Amino acid sequence: MKVQVCIVGGGPSGLLLSQLLHLRGIDTIVLEKYSREHVLSRIRAGVLEHGFARLMREAQCGERMDREGEIHNGFHIAHDGVLDHVDLHKYSGGNSVIVYGQTELTRDLYEARDRLGGKVVHNAEDVTLHEVKSDAPFVTYRSGGERVRVLCDFVVGADGFHGVSRQSIPKDVLREYEKIYPFGWLGVLSRTRPVSPELIYVKHERGFALCSMRSQVLSRYYIQVPLTDKPKDWADDAFWAELRRRLPQEVAAKLITGPSIEKSIAPLRSFVAEPMQYGRLFLAGDAAHIVPPTGARGLNSAASDIYYLYHALIAHYQKGDDSGLEGYSKKALARIWKAQRFSWWMTMLLHRFPDRLPYDDELQQTEMNYLFSSETALRLLAENYVGLPF
Ligand code: APR
Ligand code: PHB
Repeated sequence: MKVQVCIVGGGPSGLLLSQLLHLRGIDTIVLEKYSREHVLSRIRAGVLEHGFARLMREAQCGERMDREGEIHNGFHIAHDGVLDHVDLHKYSGGNSVIVYGQTELTRDLYEARDRLGGKVVHNAEDVTLHEVKSDAPFVTYRSGGERVRVLCDFVVGADGFHGVSRQSIPKDVLREYEKIYPFGWLGVLSRTRPVSPELIYVKHERGFALCSMRSQVLSRYYIQVPLTDKPKDWADDAFWAELRRRLPQEVAAKLITGPSIEKSIAPLRSFVAEPMQYGRLFLAGDAAHIVPPTGARGLNSAASDIYYLYHALIAHYQKGDDSGLEGYSKKALARIWKAQRFSWWMTMLLHRFPDRLPYDDELQQTEMNYLFSSETALRLLAENYVGLPF
């Protein structure tokens, strides 16, 4: 089989890129390791920046997002018993974010690929990249016992943090930066009305908490827990009791609880791989970088990778201009590191670190006081949260 662009990974990054390229007449195939049901059973974050939403619309996948997603013009930070507000709209020059579950977004992308007859292979086993440094790269995989070879001009590695693409870059070329945080987030999804119309991030002496949502009937809550905890250690009642303790009283009083329909612990990690390009292989999304979820940057940091790659590939095929492809890694990483900085900053601001010094506590407190006493500080937060331009 021969395609122009072979995309490894059928998560949001790979699907969105393949849809955008298809609409511009560029032929792609998406190779996904798991079944569609499996991909769509993953619960992921649910805050989209306006730049990502714009790309979804350009990909003709934004209809349900615009109909069912909720525009949020701000969020709260609870600390020291008070509930402060961050007016995103005011401080970011009129921008906002859309609350729309990533699982639903991925479903929309799959349906759009189906409508256009896009090639998406599920249960592609043993995906292997070959000759990516040459002018004739190819990718092999196994499907139903048969070995398939995909010849292509370019390979895009959009196969997430645990994928194979990044590993195809030789160790002496690849540089990895990583920071693991000494705690995780225990998340619960419940069919209950969210406690607040806007998200509430909570800094509390017992640890961080977050009140989020997927819709007006589906809530998503998180609490910071030690990495040694397991979801089964947390009965629903214990989770709700701990969440209540961390919320300001007036919020705790309004919390509606119910059975959890999903409960999992996510570790917090910051990670960047450089370069994001090796020969004719281009990494995008989680394959190249991970952020802790605190600033809701995960999928949003993939947005600029997809955008730069999409435009670079169009320039290559339509104008024979390779400058976008050649400059991809540098350009993508410049924005990625800014998303890293912001997620790290928000993580440091809101969590309780087990090994902190009294000095760290004072600095954290000062950071919070400064934030809500300075419009300039609020502007910095808002401009990053709605997504830096790309
Ligand atoms: N071969 C083929 N596909 C693979 C392989 C492999 N060896 N390894 C992993 N995959 C698939 C995964 O099953 C997954 O569906 O690649 C896909 C990668 O998708 P994501 O992990 O969702 O990454 P990405 O599309 O870049 O989306 C980034 O997801 O994890 C969140 O916070 C992150 O919101 C961000 C978004
Ligand atoms: C979520 O709804 O899952 C969510 C929202 C905001 C975050 C992280 C996760 O910062």
